[in-house]
Amino acid sequence: MAEPTHERVLVVDFGSQVTQLIARRLREAQVYCEIHPYDRVDAAFLDAFAPKAVILSGGPASVTAPDAPRAEPSLFGRGAPILGICYGQQTMVAQLGGAVEAGDNREFGRAALTVAAASPLFEGWAEPGLGRDVWMSHGDHVARLPDGFSVVAASHGAPFAAIADEARGFYGVQFHPEVSHTTAGDLLLRNFLFRIAGLSGDWSMAAYRDEAISKIRDQVGDGQVICGLSGGVDSAVAAVLIHEAIGDRLTCIFVDTGLMRAGEAEEVVRLFRDHYNIPLIAADESARFLDALAGVEDPEAKRKTIGRLFIDVFDAQAQAVGGAAFLAQGTLYPDVIESVSVTGGPSVTIKSHHNVGGLPERMNLKLVEPLRELFKDEVRALGRELGLPEAFVGRHPFPGPGLAIRCPGVVTREKLDILRKADAIYLEEIRAAGLYDVIWQAFAVLLPVRTVGVMGDGRTYDFVLALRAVTSVDGMTADYFPFDHGFLGRVAGRIVNEVRGVNRVVYDVTSKPPGTIEWE
Ligand code: XMP
Repeated sequence: MAEPTHERVLVVDFGSQVTQLIARRLREAQVYCEIHPYDRVDAAFLDAFAPKAVILSGGPASVTAPDAPRAEPSLFGRGAPILGICYGQQTMVAQLGGAVEAGDNREFGRAALTVAAASPLFEGWAEPGLGRDVWMSHGDHVARLPDGFSVVAASHGAPFAAIADEARGFYGVQFHPEVSHTTAGDLLLRNFLFRIAGLSGDWSMAAYRDEAISKIRDQVGDGQVICGLSGGVDSAVAAVLIHEAIGDRLTCIFVDTGLMRAGEAEEVVRLFRDHYNIPLIAADESARFLDALAGVEDPEAKRKTIGRLFIDVFDAQAQAVGGAAFLAQGTLYPDVIESVSVTGGPSVTIKSHHNVGGLPERMNLKLVEPLRELFKDEVRALGRELGLPEAFVGRHPFPGPGLAIRCPGVVTREKLDILRKADAIYLEEIRAAGLYDVIWQAFAVLLPVRTVGVMGDGRTYDFVLALRAVTSVDGMTADYFPFDHGFLGRVAGRIVNEVRGVNRVVYDVTSKPPGTIEWE
């Protein structure tokens, strides 16, 4: 757990699909918070965490079930203001002596909320007698309030849509203020944080940077650190931060797998070695990776081959540094949050993500993970704070297994070459259209399908290229980007004309779920 140098808000997770959004909204309000599963939050935890305010999340369970998840009872006796959202509201009501019942009037989606009484929670949002749209998703509802509570807003299906015990600082809402469908829901959360809990909003990147640097110094002492650079934002920001903390006792390792995009390997070397002067080992291992991938068709087999090889290469390169006791990783907060399993079973592996996670045990290294409390956009903000060039900070995510998973079927040098050229044209056009920064990720996929075309007077029999572009907040869910047809036509025309080997271009309009962002 992080040192309590900021005001800290605890988000108790009951398994809602949107719990992470609560944390996002709080961080956007410059308030530091952490999400912890309800069954890990006990009295000792609360003493150590010392939250200034608590938010109880929604969740899929029914408060009326005999084994329903409950909040740690001592939470209600600490003097910290509490906001219960959906399930969080219901369990608070049930635990404090009120009643919750399963209703006939289930509400899913948009609902009109009418404010019944003045409350600091709604200041600047809606006056008594006026309403606003909120997003609901519930079957059960509050039927009787505990002593001390009163109704501050109602909807058709939830007469107790917002309740408050202002003396104790306890608030409950049946709707979800954290989702964007609730009009100005972030204002409600800010009212809770600033008006009700009296927080100051002391979480800033400048403060984080100084704190992170001193934590790295404490952890590393006079040891040596190695850091694998992927070309992505996270490892780059982690490396620059650690370099600020310990200087040349950091060595970066960049493995050119031969699966990078056009110009990528050179860019990374230029930035780190030439611009930052950070000791960098650049290992061209492309032959090794491409040989190992020869004939491998299955996506999971590709991922595992690359992951295994990466560890071997990294291990061998790291020996050269001699005596490194620490391995730096750009682990982010969404990777760390323990999710509450609703079904009780382990979650299904959709894809084996590649990282250098096998290394610490094999090489007896301790992990340095200075970004493990940050979301992706906060990492970008920290990168800017550290002076990383905008071109690097604003980069789209790129997967560890690289272009191998953008070449469904067997990967060959020829295919990678075609893909690289087409991808570069696509991204060039996206940049020229001013769309790069509004898209989460855009890339080309070379399909193992050939189709017949006609060019000049001749017949062609070449590959199909798929274009993908998605919007997303965190990569967990995504929607396809609605390019206009003129743009798509222009890109397709350029690719077919300029890239030998492609005679047809298609655009992927699948969201995630049910699709994933990458094709493999
Ligand atoms: P999917 O395809 O699972 O991707 O919807 C979600 C996000 O993760 C990236 N991705 C990876 N990143 N190693 C990574 O570092 C991987 O093995 C990997 N696979 C997918 C993907 O590009 C998207 O941003």
